[in-house]
Amino acid sequence: MKAVKGWRLCGTSYMQSLPGARHRAPPTRKPLWILAVVSLITMFVIGAYVFPHHRRAACYMFSSKGCKGLTDWLPPSPRELSDDEIAARVVIREILSSPRVIKKTSKIAFMFLTPGTLPFEKLWDLFFQGHEGKFSVYIHASKDTPVHTSRYFLSREIRSDEVVWGRISMIDAERRLLTSALRDPENQQFVLLSDSCVPLRSFDYMYNYMMYSNVSNVDCFDDPGPHGIGRHMDHMLPVIPKEDFRKGSQWFSMTRQHAVMTMADSLYYSKFRDFCGPGVESNKNCIADEHYLPTFFYMLDPGGIANWTLTYVDWSEGKWHPRTFMREDVTHELFKNLTSIDAVSRVTSEGTGIVTWTQCMWNGIKRPCYLFGRKFHADALDKLMDLFPMYTSGFD
Ligand SMILES: *[C@@H]1O[C@H](CO)[C@@H](O)[C@H](O)[C@H]1NC(C)=O
Ligand SMILES: *[C@@H]1O[C@H](CO)[C@@H](O)[C@H](O)[C@H]1NC(C)=O
Ligand SMILES: *[C@@H]1O[C@H](CO)[C@@H](O)[C@H](O)[C@H]1NC(C)=O
Repeated sequence: MKAVKGWRLCGTSYMQSLPGARHRAPPTRKPLWILAVVSLITMFVIGAYVFPHHRRAACYMFSSKGCKGLTDWLPPSPRELSDDEIAARVVIREILSSPRVIKKTSKIAFMFLTPGTLPFEKLWDLFFQGHEGKFSVYIHASKDTPVHTSRYFLSREIRSDEVVWGRISMIDAERRLLTSALRDPENQQFVLLSDSCVPLRSFDYMYNYMMYSNVSNVDCFDDPGPHGIGRHMDHMLPVIPKEDFRKGSQWFSMTRQHAVMTMADSLYYSKFRDFCGPGVESNKNCIADEHYLPTFFYMLDPGGIANWTLTYVDWSEGKWHPRTFMREDVTHELFKNLTSIDAVSRVTSEGTGIVTWTQCMWNGIKRPCYLFGRKFHADALDKLMDLFPMYTSGFD
C-alpha cells in the first residue's frame, strides 16, 4: 500500500510542476491495472527479502540478507591497509628507488647453503681463478664444519644454525647469508647456491649476465593446485591474500636493493614463520622456502623479478626430489644441452599438471636460461673438472 501512495504523491507533484497543468482535465478514473501490477511487484520484492535465495541469478536481482552471492558479483572494494603494511610499503619503495651502481670493484656474493663440506670446491676454485676482487664467498654449514680444498673457501663460514628442509629455518639460513654478504658494500649481486650445485658458464659470462640484468632472478609462478595456492593458510589473511600466494624454487640471484628489501621485511616473513608449516591448518603443509620469496616479491615488486631461477634442475622423473646427475651422466653433450635451454617449463599441481613454457629473456633479448646446474653427485667431480674448460669456453 505504501508503494501505491508514493506513486500518487509523485504523480501529483509532477503535475503541479508542469506549466499549464492547471488547464488540463484532472484524471477522472484510477487506472486499476497499475495498482494491481505495483502490488504484485511489492509482494514479490518483500518475498525476495524474507526467503533466502539459493540461486545466483536471484541474488543478483534481489540481494536478500541471507544471500552471500551478491558480493561475489560486485568488484571487491579495496581493503584498508594496516599501519604495518603501509610502513612496509614506504620502506620498500624507498629501498627500490636507490639507483643501481656497478663499478669495477663491484662483487658478486656466492652464498652456499650446505650441511657440511662442499664437494665441488675444487671446481669452483677453477671457476674463480683469475677473478679475484670480483667475488666473495659465504658458507652456511648447518651440520658439520666443512673441510676445504680451495683457498677461496677458507674461513668463509658464517654463524650458522640447524636447517630443516621446507621449514622457516631454511629462510633464516638464507637471511643469515644475506646479512653477512650485505656487510661488504662492494657486493652488488647475491646468489644462493647449494652443495650439489655447479657452474655452467665461465666467471666473466656470469658476472656480466647477473650484474647487468635489469631484474633479479627470483622464481615465481602461479600454481592454483594443492601444492601451490592449496598451501596458503587462512591465518595469513588479510596480509597475504590467497590469490597472491606464489610458488618458486628457492635458488635466487638478487640485486643489492632486493637483498636489503628482503632483510627489511618482518611483516610478510612473520606470516610464514608463524603459519607456514605442518599442523597449522588441518592436514595442510606449507613449504616456507618455496613460497615466501615468490609471494613477497610478487606482492611488492612484481616487475623487478624475472620469475625464473638461474639454476637448472631436472624434475622430469616426477619424484619428490629432483634427478641427481651421476658420474656417468656427466658428458660434454649434457652440458651442451643444459646451456642451450632457452625456455622454462612450469608444471602446476592441478590434476595431471598443466605445463606452460616461457621464453627466457635478458634485458629484452632472448638468451639461454641457466648459469648453474644441480643436483650433481660428488663422484662427478673429476669429470666436471676435465670438462669445465671445454664447456665454459665453447658456448660463451
Ligand atoms: C614477472 O611476473 C610479473 C607478474 O607476476 C610481471 O609483472 C613481470 O613483468 C614478470 N617479469 C618479467 C621480467 O617478465
Ligand atoms: C641432449 O638433448 C637431446 C635432444 O633433446 C637428447 O636427445 C639427448 O638425449 C640429450 N643428451 C643428454 C646427454 O642429455
Ligand atoms: C628491463 O629491460 C627490458 C628491455 O629493455 C624492458 O622491457 C623492461 O621493462 C626492463 N625492466 C625493468 C624492471 O627495468
